[in-house]
Amino acid sequence: MNTHRIFRVGMTLLILGAGGLAGIQAADTPAANALQVNAQSFRCIRQMIPVRHFYVDNLLGNTAGTLAAANAPKGAIYPPGSVVQLVPTEAMVKREAGFSPVTGDWEFFELDVSTSGSTIRARGFADVKNRFGKNCFACHVPARDPWDFVCEDTHGCAPIPIDHRMTGALQRADPRCGAPEPQPGDAMALFKLRTLVIIGSSLDWIKSLF
Ligand code: HEC
Repeated sequence: MNTHRIFRVGMTLLILGAGGLAGIQAADTPAANALQVNAQSFRCIRQMIPVRHFYVDNLLGNTAGTLAAANAPKGAIYPPGSVVQLVPTEAMVKREAGFSPVTGDWEFFELDVSTSGSTIRARGFADVKNRFGKNCFACHVPARDPWDFVCEDTHGCAPIPIDHRMTGALQRADPRCGAPEPQPGDAMALFKLRTLVIIGSSLDWIKSLF
């Protein structure tokens, strides 16, 4: 083997080696199209798409897919990018396939909302708790099959102590949306919600909604 040939073989190995390394890096670093979720991913709840008593969105533009899942009569898996919210301060976001198999790739978020926008107070998967120590996943897991962890009020989750009049009133008072757009009865619904606070049922969690 002459020097020239050794050089060529060496170069080929080098190129193959570099290709291999690039392959490893691609697997280890987030893909270029990975979903970035940050505080700016969340907005005025009423600008999302209403479904029954809650709101949905899709950070990747696939709102049709998200709506199809939300409206599937027998339940369906929500597509990546889906955002689901019932109250302004809590959200579920469907991440890329394989991101978190145990939570069905849902990431749970607890938000602080104000006139200046959203900030993320807590985020994560099976271990994320709301600020008062209650685990999002534990409450939502009964709805896993076939509802993809979305509880609504008939999918097997233990009920929460607030009704849809109250969640509707909270949606219409979302401070990120500008002026509140109250409907008749909202003041009473919010008053009842505050009264629940006084009675002490789920005290801290209810306080966190205001
Ligand atoms: C005490 C149990 C409980 C805990 C803890 C809990 N949830 Fe829920 N969540 C529910 C129930 C029940 C509903 C449905 C209420 C309804 O529609 O009347 C719900 C509704 C929702 C919805 C609207 C979609 C749906 O599933 O109906 C989102 C989004 C949500 N929760 C996110 C969260 C996040 C994020 C956390 C943690 C920060 C959390 N939840 C903690 C029980 C819980």
